[in-house]
Amino acid sequence: MVKQKVLSKLKERIEPESWAEGIEMPLELMGATHEDPAVLADIAYRSIITARQFDRDKVAQLCRLAAKYETAQQTSQFPLTGKILISAFYEPSTRTRLSFESVWHRLGGDIISITDPSTTGIAKGESYKDVAEMMNHYGDIVVLRDSNENAIFEMVESLRIPIVNAGNGTDEHPTQALADMYALFKWRPELITGDVPEDKKITVCVIGVPGRMRTVRSLLYFLAMFSDAINEVILVCNMKNPFSDGQQKELEQAGLKMRVQPFLDDALPSSDVVYINAIAWVGDSYEAHGTEYTLNASSPLKEGSIILHPLARGDELSTDLDDTDHNWYFAQARGAVYVRMALLSTIMRF
Ligand code: CP
Repeated sequence: MVKQKVLSKLKERIEPESWAEGIEMPLELMGATHEDPAVLADIAYRSIITARQFDRDKVAQLCRLAAKYETAQQTSQFPLTGKILISAFYEPSTRTRLSFESVWHRLGGDIISITDPSTTGIAKGESYKDVAEMMNHYGDIVVLRDSNENAIFEMVESLRIPIVNAGNGTDEHPTQALADMYALFKWRPELITGDVPEDKKITVCVIGVPGRMRTVRSLLYFLAMFSDAINEVILVCNMKNPFSDGQQKELEQAGLKMRVQPFLDDALPSSDVVYINAIAWVGDSYEAHGTEYTLNASSPLKEGSIILHPLARGDELSTDLDDTDHNWYFAQARGAVYVRMALLSTIMRF
């Protein structure tokens, strides 16, 4: 069946997709009208490890810069010519690795990569600190994904080039959360302006475990920065304590209203945004969480609500939602390219 479908598709010509195809970028997101380089000045030549390093102005400004890149037909300049990205992904990745590498290539840079730490001195007992010392001489920036959440902290000690956290164990995934915010701003541009009337504030349903999932942890930090636009976050989870030490208090002190509730179908009808994730990568494998929670086209979703998912997906997100207006998860993944382009170009100062 699939084979037949594919064989008939081979007869069709593949039209190259324009970067900007189908994009109607809200004006509030256009970097050209809101650009304030000073906001991003202190990201230049800095390492990015946690969402906590940002504030709402920086998140907003990076998203405006991303919008500028997304609406451009092509980059006409190659400012990274001669610059080398060290791409170190010691854990599986489809989106994060490919989007970072794609961005670097599109901006004219070169890449050297490690996909398996056992092919490096780490297999011989070399410390992260020493590996980082060597990287200073081989590249201009490092992007690291490692299931060892402390690796990035150890490397920063001896790095004299920036490093970007592409997911460190169960700790954080700040660039994924930037992509989540970019999707939210494209959907509701008024969220970025800080001028959201009471009746336009949004309810966000998060199906996941903030204490175990790096994507959820980083996203909640960013949502807290925009808490004036949020009625509440409904955390759908059946764990007794889904938070890590001090996490809930920190988010609430930052202004985020949260409640935990175990029944998904009670949360969906009032939720404007439904964010779902079902796995946490731990060591060499993954933990599944909330396998009883699934979204499909028959779920009691609010009209006009959107679904976000960091992907990769499993059974928790049915493919029958792909062709509905609730599907913002593919746009979210696409936008991650431009958010990472905005971030890398800001770090590399051009
Ligand atoms: N969202 C995300 O981190 O996806 P990958 O694991 O494919 O990079």
